[in-house]
Amino acid sequence: MKKIAVLTRDCAGVNAAIRSIVRTASKFDIEVVGVMRGYDGLIDGDLIALNPRSVSGIINTGGTILKTSRSKRFYEVEGQEQAVKTIRENNIDGLIVIGGNGSLTGAHILANNYNIPVIGVPATIDNDITGVDLTLGADTAVNVALDALDKIRDTATSLERIFIVEVMGRDCGYIALNVALAGGCEEVLVPEMEIDLDLMCDEIKKGNRSGKVSWIIIVAEGKAKAQDIANIINEKIGLETRVAVLGHIQRGGRPTARDRLIGARLGNYAVDVLKDGMTDHCVYFKDSKFFTIPLNVTIQPKDLDVDSYYRLIKILT
Ligand code: F6P
Repeated sequence: MKKIAVLTRDCAGVNAAIRSIVRTASKFDIEVVGVMRGYDGLIDGDLIALNPRSVSGIINTGGTILKTSRSKRFYEVEGQEQAVKTIRENNIDGLIVIGGNGSLTGAHILANNYNIPVIGVPATIDNDITGVDLTLGADTAVNVALDALDKIRDTATSLERIFIVEVMGRDCGYIALNVALAGGCEEVLVPEMEIDLDLMCDEIKKGNRSGKVSWIIIVAEGKAKAQDIANIINEKIGLETRVAVLGHIQRGGRPTARDRLIGARLGNYAVDVLKDGMTDHCVYFKDSKFFTIPLNVTIQPKDLDVDSYYRLIKILT
């Protein structure tokens, strides 16, 4: 293997992985090119040369130095064929794709339909990659949200208010559940679970009568809009309710130590398995050991153990 390419989505820890890939590859005299703007850049042939020096000073930075996109063109066969042409014309022997569900689906298409050697590195704040315990970016996202939540709690407690805090997670409640549990919140609403809002309001009313004055309710963006939940509480109970939507601050920012370590380790391991001939697999790390899992498994919907989280959140309220 003489030349590989790396393509990314953005979240904390991705730059640590790029750095690790480039520096590991250079030890085997493998050239690395970065694909700019995700699959759009692969279609357009937008590549940059990377070397051990060009990836210095990035391990502590968020986002991706390669920029990224949600490529609609890659959904079409025409876009895929153009991407394959870029790979072949540039003599790229293998590709490492760092990203979440969409990116790994693209990686699987390239490996399975076009016979391109591809390895995936799981990276998404949603932590919704099947078979993978912890994706790159999830730890930073939970910590960023938790930091914001701790600040919101100061006001919630001081002013005796109800706060609805909306966190990211379109189809997956991972961030919401972890933030709710680690932040000591009273309620959490996630896409994977039905919740009886009348019952929730009754509980708040009952708690309020017995002297409880502030609540923090976490809602995953894919479940409901925080403002809608606040309106329901206002209408039904008449208690003063405020809303905070955390949004994209959760995807950016300085990666935690954990995300840097996962990035460094998985980048290194991805190069190892790619050069040894593995393809159509995703690398991951658990209990200090490395594993691979077929890409077509990772892109299936993840079964998160919502009940055990929820039960504990309620016990500890
Ligand atoms: O998949 C990661 C994620 O941050 C989700 O939590 C969120 O729903 C989505 O991406 C937002 O996407 P975009 O940045 O394209 O609006």
